[in-house]
Amino acid sequence: VPPEIRQMVEAHELIRKFYHHLLVNTKDGQHALEYLLGRGFTLESIEKFQIGYALNSWDFVYKFLTKRNFEPEVLEKSGLIIKRERDGTYFDRFRDRIMFPIFDQKGNTIAFSGRSLGADEPKYLNSPETAIFNKSKILYNFHLARPSIRKLQQLILFEGFADCIAADRAGVENGVATMGTSLTAEHVSLIRRNTDAVTICYDSDNAGIEAAYRASSLLVEAGAQVRVAMMPDGLDPDDYIKKYGEAKFTKEIIGASMTLMSFKLVYFRRGKDLQNEGDRLQYIEKVLKEISQLDKAVERDHYLRQIANEFSLSLEALQEEQKQIYFSNK
Ligand code: CTP
Ligand code: MN
Ligand code: MN
Ligand code: MN
Ligand code: MN
Repeated sequence: VPPEIRQMVEAHELIRKFYHHLLVNTKDGQHALEYLLGRGFTLESIEKFQIGYALNSWDFVYKFLTKRNFEPEVLEKSGLIIKRERDGTYFDRFRDRIMFPIFDQKGNTIAFSGRSLGADEPKYLNSPETAIFNKSKILYNFHLARPSIRKLQQLILFEGFADCIAADRAGVENGVATMGTSLTAEHVSLIRRNTDAVTICYDSDNAGIEAAYRASSLLVEAGAQVRVAMMPDGLDPDDYIKKYGEAKFTKEIIGASMTLMSFKLVYFRRGKDLQNEGDRLQYIEKVLKEISQLDKAVERDHYLRQIANEFSLSLEALQEEQKQIYFSNK
């Protein structure tokens, strides 16, 4: 390992421990700790995920690390401090934020995401891409979740930190998060090296549903078996757990996840008024196309019946039409 890389990781490790100490043990971090506890984070999760607090200071990290003989140039490259164009002095990237350390697969701290305590924008401020942090390769919590993913042969995919952590508290230990970015080919290959089965549990708002659809296509292309877990009322997993409790989440959301086809039935329906004949016909045609792509005749039959029932159509007519699509695709 080149010395500069080693120093960048060491700086992250040191400051991660200090951020955590500030949150858990100091008066300066008390308001941040209260914020987290108020949101339902437990001390146990705060410990397990090594959550911390960055002081409201322009140069705390700069001083803390340069005093320990880290070169400012290296710290700047690591993303922890930023250089002022004006006079070449430095300031801390993260100030007055809840700090979520991001770990690589070996458990080294390689980046941070800092959440604002109030309405400050951005809500999450992230480390930049660096020699040690490549967002398109890292899944949050992968290093802790890996044994559980391999054991259960199942991975749960979340959007955010709070979702992953709340689910872990509910006993879902095989969860990882894409941290808001879209799932990349590199993420998919990391996932596929560890399991065949993925349950996507993104936020049940528009952005989350769109992202879930895209993620499902990538995963299916890579040969994964995909299910989708959705919350009611546009909630995200963390909101849901806070509102309805941990048991209901594992049982009624994760435990009752949908097949990918059922998700698509929901997905294609969005923004359509199925009382309107034009919309309805469009929807049915789209759905028949999807059904015709299912491998198993039993499955095709199952969803055709469902559509026939819902729209009071003759099963025979649907079967006929679906077959035409099926053979025109061959
Ligand atoms: N995210 C980000 N930068 C932002 C907003 C979001 O990097 N400005 C990432 C974070 O990893 C966040 C995830 O995208 O956890 C999902 O975003 P969102 O659903 O908006 O946030 P939540 O995770 O629900 O955040 P919270 O519950 O703390 O409000
Ligand atoms: Mn601790
Ligand atoms: Mn979201
Ligand atoms: Mn969310
Ligand atoms: Mn949330």
